[in-house]
Amino acid sequence: MNLAEPQKNFSLKAYNTFGIDQVAENFISVNHIDKLRETLLKYATKDLFVLGGGSNLLLTQDVPGLTLHINLKGKEIIDTYDAENCVLVKAMAGEVWHEFVLWSLENGLGGLENLSLIPGSVGAAPIQNIGAYGVELKDSFVRCDAVEIETGILKTFDKAACEFDYRHSVFKTKFKNKYIITAVYFCLTKQNHLLKTDYGTIQTELTLQGVENPTPSAISKAVISIRQQKLPDPKMIGNSGSFFKNPVVEKTIFQSLKEKYPDMPFYEVGDLVKIPAGWLIEQAGFKGKRFGDAGVHTKQALVLVNYGNAKGRDILALSDKIQQTVFKIFGIQLLPEVNIYP
Ligand code: EPU
Repeated sequence: MNLAEPQKNFSLKAYNTFGIDQVAENFISVNHIDKLRETLLKYATKDLFVLGGGSNLLLTQDVPGLTLHINLKGKEIIDTYDAENCVLVKAMAGEVWHEFVLWSLENGLGGLENLSLIPGSVGAAPIQNIGAYGVELKDSFVRCDAVEIETGILKTFDKAACEFDYRHSVFKTKFKNKYIITAVYFCLTKQNHLLKTDYGTIQTELTLQGVENPTPSAISKAVISIRQQKLPDPKMIGNSGSFFKNPVVEKTIFQSLKEKYPDMPFYEVGDLVKIPAGWLIEQAGFKGKRFGDAGVHTKQALVLVNYGNAKGRDILALSDKIQQTVFKIFGIQLLPEVNIYP
């Protein structure tokens, strides 16, 4: 098989949703699994940067070595397990997440509707266990295939092996930079869909749209409408969705904060309490603020934006400033959800 020669000094601006103009020293896009494995074996793997949809990434420097863009395409219904109300669906890592969600809905399948319009690729979705409106990827995830970077060997990870948690998986810790996800398998429903309409404003939106008996497609439409009202479209304004994770604090800390700030929203998670980072950032006075081309979105303070020519380090400086201010006021340390390179 002929392997493509790397392109030299390749701008990554169109390959990250923040629209940051950093350069890859060498760039190869692979659209076939054999090409991926042979590229890994041919080129030294130590200076390797794996790029998916670039939707959860802040580049603060040029990327030395080889940037490998995962462009594996394909989606198919593999099998139906009627007894378990489960249709096994496979999507290749380079598929655009939202297009895959729409395809599943067009095929009458339920399970991914609440995850509509999340930017990024299918292969990146398990890494941070994407989630929205009361649903996480792990809820319909069955397994994924991944190539081991060092050997080129294809392995399979079932759900337990992925160790999913809130915006977390094993691919963020012990298998970080060790595997490239090539395909993801989901169990989706053909009937008896498990609809989740109780989170946030989904029900209000459905009522507004005159929907009484929602289908997965109707929920998807509602989610799309809510997201479009609150979140900036990366094609218009560079961003990576939520920049920070929602912090989780001990109940005692929560109680003393709640006394001081009775309006503070919160969600109980077991013995702990999750506080929306967007609320903390808004209270700290950052919502809608702009520093040069780096800013905080006007409608959702959890989203940092690039108004045009911000550098990754401008966004990072803003993130540092937000972290320090929130810590000073509330004593809470915000942690980025976005992967910051390097
Ligand atoms: N809030 C404010 N000010 C803001 C933003 C939010 O006061 O500027 C308050 C809201 O009023 C609400 C609470 O914070 O009471 C929660 O806000 P929202 O429902 O918008 O959700 P979120 O916790 O800010 C999370 C996810 C989003 C996901 C939404 C909906 C994280 C880090 N973010 O945001 O995910 O779309 O819930 O499920 O968990 C992403 O990961 O990129 C992302 C967009």
